[in-house]
Amino acid sequence: MTKIASNLQIDSARLWDTIHETAKFGATPKGGVRRLTLGPEDKQVRDWFRARCEAAGLEVHVDALGSMFGLRKGRDMSKAPIGLGSHLDTQPTGGKYDGVLGTLAALEVVRTLNDAGIETETPICICNWTNEEGSRFAPAMMASAAYVGDFTTDDILSRKDAEGVTVAQALDSIGYRGATPVGTQKFSGFVELHIEQGPILEAENKTIGVVDSGQGVLWYDGKITGFESHAGSTPMPLRRDALATLSEIVLAMEAIARKHGPKAVGTVGEAVIANPSRNVIPGEIAFTVDCRSADAAIMDVLDKDLRAAIAEIASRRKVEVQFDLIWRKPPTHFDPKLVDAVENAAKMLGLSHRRITSGAGHDACNLNTVMPAAMVFVPCKDGISHNELEDATQADCAAGANVLMHTVLALAGVAS
Ligand code: GLV
Ligand code: MN
Ligand code: MN
Repeated sequence: MTKIASNLQIDSARLWDTIHETAKFGATPKGGVRRLTLGPEDKQVRDWFRARCEAAGLEVHVDALGSMFGLRKGRDMSKAPIGLGSHLDTQPTGGKYDGVLGTLAALEVVRTLNDAGIETETPICICNWTNEEGSRFAPAMMASAAYVGDFTTDDILSRKDAEGVTVAQALDSIGYRGATPVGTQKFSGFVELHIEQGPILEAENKTIGVVDSGQGVLWYDGKITGFESHAGSTPMPLRRDALATLSEIVLAMEAIARKHGPKAVGTVGEAVIANPSRNVIPGEIAFTVDCRSADAAIMDVLDKDLRAAIAEIASRRKVEVQFDLIWRKPPTHFDPKLVDAVENAAKMLGLSHRRITSGAGHDACNLNTVMPAAMVFVPCKDGISHNELEDATQADCAAGANVLMHTVLALAGVAS
């Protein structure tokens, strides 16, 4: 097998141009991107991605949940490909890099190998996973979760957005319900490049995060039922106020997460008052909770303490609180051999690096349950993500893409 020199580099300007070209699909006035999964802007970027994959000679197929796979043949087609990629959907007020960097860097790796005339021993396959973000349909990372068997395809197809549109209808409306059954595309390993989405690499002046673990996630749907009544004439002790109840729940959740700080975080990201009116005491509120920890035992404690706090608040305030766990993703421990491969690539390229735990969830975390997987992080400005201000430098994006490429080459081998 031929050894590839560290001077094989991706085309930094070409990668940067593709990031900014695709940022037009769903561009927001504040410089971010709003590209909700399976919406019209997602179709635009998917069509763009498919066309560029085909132009790069990849065989593209789409699975029954809309995940896209672009296969680059290797010398030994009896081997399952090495997968690389991420996602192209964004948060409602998202940035240009979350998911996009990893997907477009995967395309850039293919373009670089094509330009250099390099055939890999094992094929490689670049991926765009459907609905990583989880903001239109829950849970997040639903396509890779179905891929690994955490959910059936039919279950995911039946999930509804806030308007009652199902995943199946949304896929059909943009023409991305593919023919390939979920799970058909096999991989012998998966590597995902992503911005860190946190402040550590920047603070420590490191270019590469060698991701060895990821936080587990607890997602809940909550509903508070109190009693609507007149804001002027209802004395304070007689109120059954759903919003005041939620306020207590939010603060209790914050205190519970802080008790385990820095090993836990907790967020109420959505709260919707039914029939809101300035002079009506809120009677019904739907809300969500997202709690995370890299420690499974702490996740159990968070769950127990949260339920106890909510039960106490509900009974004291004489309201009903329904609180359902809709998703539990255990912490991730990435494959040690692949983590070493990422670290070796960073070392070979002379890039500063450190091991790191991912605070965010990623498709690689799901995939790691059925195949060896690992991730590469690069810094993002001020650690900000899930925000239109999300930013990263061209040099760091290119460095991450080079680590991705050399990790994949080490895994796939070079045929000639
Ligand atoms: C995905 O962005 C998540 O971590 O929720
Ligand atoms: Mn992401
Ligand atoms: Mn995200």
